[in-house]
Amino acid sequence: MMIPSFTDTPSGNESGVFLAVDFGGTNLRCLLIKTELNTIRNKVQRSMVLDPKIPTGEILFSTIASFIVEFLEENKSFLEPRPEVLPVGFTFSFPIQQTSIASGKLIMWTKEFVASGVVGKDVVELLHAELAKRKYEWVKVVALCNDTVGTLCASTTEHPTAKIGVILGTGSNACYQERMEAITKINQEGASSSSSSSSEAASKKMIINMEWGGYDGFPSTPEDDEVNHMTRKQGQQRLEKMVSGRYLPMLVRVCMNKCIRCGWILNCFDQEKIGVWDKNEELSLIEIGKVEHDRSPNMDMARSFIIRFCEDKSLDKNAIPLHEVVLIRSLFHAIVVRSARYAAVAISTLIQHIVTTGEQLEELTVAIDGSVYHKHIGYKEELHASVDKCCKSLMMGPTPPEVHVVGTQDGSGLGAAIIAAVQVAH
Ligand code: GLC
Repeated sequence: MMIPSFTDTPSGNESGVFLAVDFGGTNLRCLLIKTELNTIRNKVQRSMVLDPKIPTGEILFSTIASFIVEFLEENKSFLEPRPEVLPVGFTFSFPIQQTSIASGKLIMWTKEFVASGVVGKDVVELLHAELAKRKYEWVKVVALCNDTVGTLCASTTEHPTAKIGVILGTGSNACYQERMEAITKINQEGASSSSSSSSEAASKKMIINMEWGGYDGFPSTPEDDEVNHMTRKQGQQRLEKMVSGRYLPMLVRVCMNKCIRCGWILNCFDQEKIGVWDKNEELSLIEIGKVEHDRSPNMDMARSFIIRFCEDKSLDKNAIPLHEVVLIRSLFHAIVVRSARYAAVAISTLIQHIVTTGEQLEELTVAIDGSVYHKHIGYKEELHASVDKCCKSLMMGPTPPEVHVVGTQDGSGLGAAIIAAVQVAH
């Protein structure tokens, strides 16, 4: 899926007060931002956890609108005097068929979200309707964007050579800057209504949301297929299910249970006492990381962890032979390393596309955000090393650019505000 975003990276001259509403995989966030010449002068924010099992779109959008209203009430002083219109950048981190910079219909839910009645609808209209019910018509979405697009736009101030935005978090996705003439989905009318900055007017570009989580060309294992069967969107989002934080614990669970069933591990215990390992699906990526990095001689922490997810929690953790605990640690590590390497291959191939089809670049920066990238110990290093290796082995044209991979934080929210600012400036 390649979705035009109807925006380009900002020019750096945008100023004003903006609200960013960031609705992603796990959290809903509001940020009020004062910008001056693209520099953030002041910012307040608040977030809440959102349950992906929210059953209807009505409940979902009413929750988002109420949260916005509460947040603005709390931060009234930030807005004094109250503007006639408060421009909003709305980050909606799901596949959206964007029809303009401030409108787009949800193509499908990903990351196991279920809310009914939203697919096919314009998410900006749904939010505006809920805001209007609360007499907040003055809060108006002027820019709708994906979190990858926000990440890329927010990073260009510090990294002017940024061309790619990547999210490695609950979900996984990337966007990149494409030449307008290469975007066959948009005609020239669309090009002129898009928001290219003046400096780039001559060689128009637009950011493309790739929705790469839907790519299905990487080799998969029977365990990947089992995870796929357990999910709501079977057969879809295959890369996301091998790479992202929502699915890595599922993959670990499936692999552990297979190893137990086959008698490769934990056969010191009665299988009935083990039951289905992690039956209640409580395993988190943080715990996977802890086991992966347990380097103590007897691996006590890893042992306790293995028992914690068995049916009978009174099993003796010291009965597990050390080589099995080491094997389990390697299994977890392999799953995480594969995620980083698949992501690296995807990033490098995208770099190759940009440098072999676009203008000559001396430097190219990839901006990455997301909990897996930032919080999982060792992930960043594995990813950076793999991008390096892949870039060396791929054909990158006669003078390959210097590639920088940088971590960015908060991009999905800040980027939305910056894109809103670009809209207002136009
Ligand atoms: C999922 C969504 C995509 C988003 C990504 C990261 O893949 O479909 O739009 O960018 O998660 O949050």
